Amino acid sequence: MFDFAPDPAQSKPELYRDLLSAARGVTADERDGVANMANLAALIWQYVPRLNWAGFYRVVAGELVLGPFIGKPACIRIAFGQGVCGAAAASGETQLVPDVHAFPGHIACDGASRSELVVPVVVAGRVVAVIDLDSPEPARFDAEDAAGIEALAKAIAGWI
Ligand code: SME
Repeated sequence: MFDFAPDPAQSKPELYRDLLSAARGVTADERDGVANMANLAALIWQYVPRLNWAGFYRVVAGELVLGPFIGKPACIRIAFGQGVCGAAAASGETQLVPDVHAFPGHIACDGASRSELVVPVVVAGRVVAVIDLDSPEPARFDAEDAAGIEALAKAIAGWI
């Protein structure tokens, strides 16, 4: 059993430092990518406040396919270049979207989502997955959130 207790009084850098260390703990020595993504989605949900969706899309045969997540059921397949996730996968760049309604082609899986952060997971120069966080609050994510999830994506890239 894993027993993590995020401290709501922490600064964002502290929170993401602890999330990273918890992520290393849950993935250590486990080679099953689905199990690791499931635990990582649960950890993100536990550590990062004010989310309505957190999880993974994996690159399978040239498109994004839904992976382990916490939140409402979501669209299963997303083409590269489509929506926020597809933009992150196609460009290999983090997408920090303060207002999803202003993002051309945004895919509304949960109508409550107002802002979104999508970070590519890269192995050997290729995007293998994206980590997607949605919030019901406009402009919920900033550069510190992006840096925290980017550090997580780097740390777990070989484990999913
Ligand atoms: N909003 C995403 C789709 C995935 S859901 O948010 C879970 C997008 O535009 O790619």
